[in-house]
Amino acid sequence: MPVVAPSPVASTPSGLKDLFGRGMNNRSDVYKLPADQVEMNRLELQHRMWVLMEGGLYPRELSSTVRHVLAPTAERRAAILDVGSGSGIWAVEMAVEFPDAEIIGLDLAERHSRRIAGKSSLMLRFLETHASPRFEAADCTDDISNLPCGLFILADGHFLFDEHKSKLGPATAGIASRGECWFATWMLETKARMGSKSQHNFPGETLLRWIEEDGCLEKQDGVEYFCPINWDGDGMENGKELGKIMWKNIQEYIAASTPALLAHGLAHDVAETWTRNIERELEGPKIRIYLKWCAAWGIRRTE
Ligand SMILES: C[S@@+](CC[C@H](N)C(=O)[O-])C[C@H]1O[C@@H](n2cnc3c(N)ncnc32)[C@H](O)[C@@H]1O
Repeated sequence: MPVVAPSPVASTPSGLKDLFGRGMNNRSDVYKLPADQVEMNRLELQHRMWVLMEGGLYPRELSSTVRHVLAPTAERRAAILDVGSGSGIWAVEMAVEFPDAEIIGLDLAERHSRRIAGKSSLMLRFLETHASPRFEAADCTDDISNLPCGLFILADGHFLFDEHKSKLGPATAGIASRGECWFATWMLETKARMGSKSQHNFPGETLLRWIEEDGCLEKQDGVEYFCPINWDGDGMENGKELGKIMWKNIQEYIAASTPALLAHGLAHDVAETWTRNIERELEGPKIRIYLKWCAAWGIRRTE
């Protein structure tokens, strides 16, 4: 996993902003990961992970609610808003599952409309948005309640846990001690250097709390998924496949987050050493680690 070298290039052919060889969106500096094709491929891989964990395109606990909310009625066509749609793969697959629904994806970086297999007339509209940067700053309750939606589903990553599901801390030198790992070091550094001042937690930790505190939403609940990294999760359902996907995802996430870390002052040689340490730690895998992911939901009060 080489760390990309500094590049003097200022813009990419796709109209993205170049940062150490990766294409960033040119609308907001708040979101720190690239918007280039390599990142879209990573997001599509991560999407496969979500589908395996959730048992579909949304948490299995919500199956009947989603189908109820999206059932067409005589008065209205059901609509799905995908905020921060990335590659758009979730929106595309929702369009296949709910062919009668209108679907809109919003993102900072424009994606080309995607043709849905076998439905050449059904094109997604991807709008660019100037949604408040706070939307990405783990502090988005106002933004949530302003979105014109009935059922809200939020999903994001939480943190790293050992095989007994105890939270891990950051390694600081050499071979990580018990209860520590180098990817935790990377995640915490990423947050410290790139998070907004109001961001105290990883988003996954606080999703359900935002929804509960919002006041506009009822029937809130959430679910947690422990995804093994490069091991099989001790016989858990789809564990082997999830372990492989997650390891590739992490390797690509490290490459994706390196440019912003370098731009925020992390020394090149430190980034390279940490990257090597993470590979050494997880390649075997020598240690068994889970990344915890969370989803939370709520329904807008109707009174
Ligand atoms: C981690 S990616 C997730 C993409 C997609 N939902 C998925 O699961 O594959 C987050 C996406 O949110 C977008 N984003 C971040 N801040 C945004 C904002 N303020 N308005 C719209 N999109 C935003 C980013 O450009 C990025 O594509």
